[in-house]
Amino acid sequence: QENLFQKVVAHAKEYGFVFPSSDIYGGLQAVYDYGSNGAELKNNIKKYWWAAMVQMHENIVGLDSSIFMDSKTWKASGHVDAFNDPLIDNKDSKKRYRADVLIEDHMAKYEAKIEKEVAKGKKRFGDDFDTEQFLATNPNVLRNKAKIEEIETRFKKALEAEDLADIKQIILDNNIVCPISGTANWTDVRQFNLMFSTEMGSLADDSNRIYLRPETAQGIFVNFLNVLKTSRMKVPFGIAQIGKAFRNEIVARQFIFRMKEFEQMEMQFFVKPGTEMKWYNYWKDARMKWHHAIANDNEDYRYHDHLKCAHYANAAVDIEFKFPFGIKELEGIHSRTDYDLGAHQDLSGKKLQYFDTEENKNLVPYVVETSVGLDRMFLSVLTAAYTEETVKDGDKEKQRTYLKIHPALAPTKAAIFPLTKKDGLPDKAREVMKELKYDFNVSYEEKDAIGKRYTRQDLIGTPYCITVDHQTLEDNTVTVRERDTMDQFRMPIAELHSFLDKKASL
Ligand code: GAP
Repeated sequence: QENLFQKVVAHAKEYGFVFPSSDIYGGLQAVYDYGSNGAELKNNIKKYWWAAMVQMHENIVGLDSSIFMDSKTWKASGHVDAFNDPLIDNKDSKKRYRADVLIEDHMAKYEAKIEKEVAKGKKRFGDDFDTEQFLATNPNVLRNKAKIEEIETRFKKALEAEDLADIKQIILDNNIVCPISGTANWTDVRQFNLMFSTEMGSLADDSNRIYLRPETAQGIFVNFLNVLKTSRMKVPFGIAQIGKAFRNEIVARQFIFRMKEFEQMEMQFFVKPGTEMKWYNYWKDARMKWHHAIANDNEDYRYHDHLKCAHYANAAVDIEFKFPFGIKELEGIHSRTDYDLGAHQDLSGKKLQYFDTEENKNLVPYVVETSVGLDRMFLSVLTAAYTEETVKDGDKEKQRTYLKIHPALAPTKAAIFPLTKKDGLPDKAREVMKELKYDFNVSYEEKDAIGKRYTRQDLIGTPYCITVDHQTLEDNTVTVRERDTMDQFRMPIAELHSFLDKKASL
């Protein structure tokens, strides 16, 4: 699995998906750039989200708020006081770590042991293997499960009580060592605010301090009244936005999983107080369906209900994804009560309310939020798509690598090839391009043998290759080759548009 992760990272760079930021200077930690294919994939994920949230819901509207906001926003939201992570330094390697991530990684080792036991059981019992029963009864599994639970419970308690000394003790008691130096020679744990700040204006004093937003959600909250007044929306309704967020994350080992500059796709759904659990469950279900609709394997996803919620929420669940380095949070769904609007109302003195016709009074709405990281979603798509397989090549066998990305998300929908560079085939192929390029991202290639061209498209996940050959000049049909099955069939040029529309559109 770790190996798979390294392969995906290398593939992402080699085929124009993701580059380290400022690569020529050695790369900036936890900051990344998206190349030609990456930018397309990212845009397609955004489009897929926007269509599902804004276009498909009459009661959700979009917003594009600024990154810079009045610093009072972050005082009200709690980020100035509570957006902290416990940090610890290793004195030997001089490396800094997030204590929670060190502990999480340690627990993942027990999870890996459980998975190993399950794999062993499956091998031993074959078709008769009952995973659920095995997980509930196998003594090795139970021992590892108990260990995870013990650490988790103690850690949650320590976090809640902000008991930094105990967080350090958990690290020591579990013999967690620095992955670089291999020693447990730590400093004390201390709190570290994750917000980046800078000064606005010419004076470098605290009154000019401004933060780069650590979440897009607050831009939605402070615009609640503006949207309510201008959009003809009535509670329940939602505001959706996609935009950059910034966090001074310390852990920088997991590629685009945890970045310092990243994008979020967030939606705040404003509801009548008392109805929030109904909407929370609605969105929990709807968001999982959204992931499943483009998934290669629904088993890669699971819910993880939070026992302890963030400072703003009364119920929270993560949609987790099986990343190569473990099962981790992909999206959060939070019932945020009236925490944010209430706090902004107090600090701004503006009434952030709607008129409830049933109650006949003004109320501060409750909020159910869905929040997914665009980059993390990108990583989930890429890791699930990366496929290596052995295929027949005449009498021999060969290895094939391709990206099995859902056609609707694939960077290029179809590549168009003239079989040769002669006999007017390139002109004909260009004609086919023209039929398609207004509605689909298609590419043209005439270099190398067809097989090589297929391979290049496989590597970037292009679902269809269209070849123009001599028969095309006679009957206006082309060969369509499918990425996953490698099947080939002929199709009239006139049908290509509706074919791609059906297969590769959102
Ligand atoms: N408004 C709620 C909020 O921001 P969060 O759980 O802190 O909640 C939501 O973040 C989502 O944003 C996460 O599920 C994850 O997908 C993404 N995310 C958070 N921090 C990230 C980071 N440093 N790098 C990449 N994605 C991140």
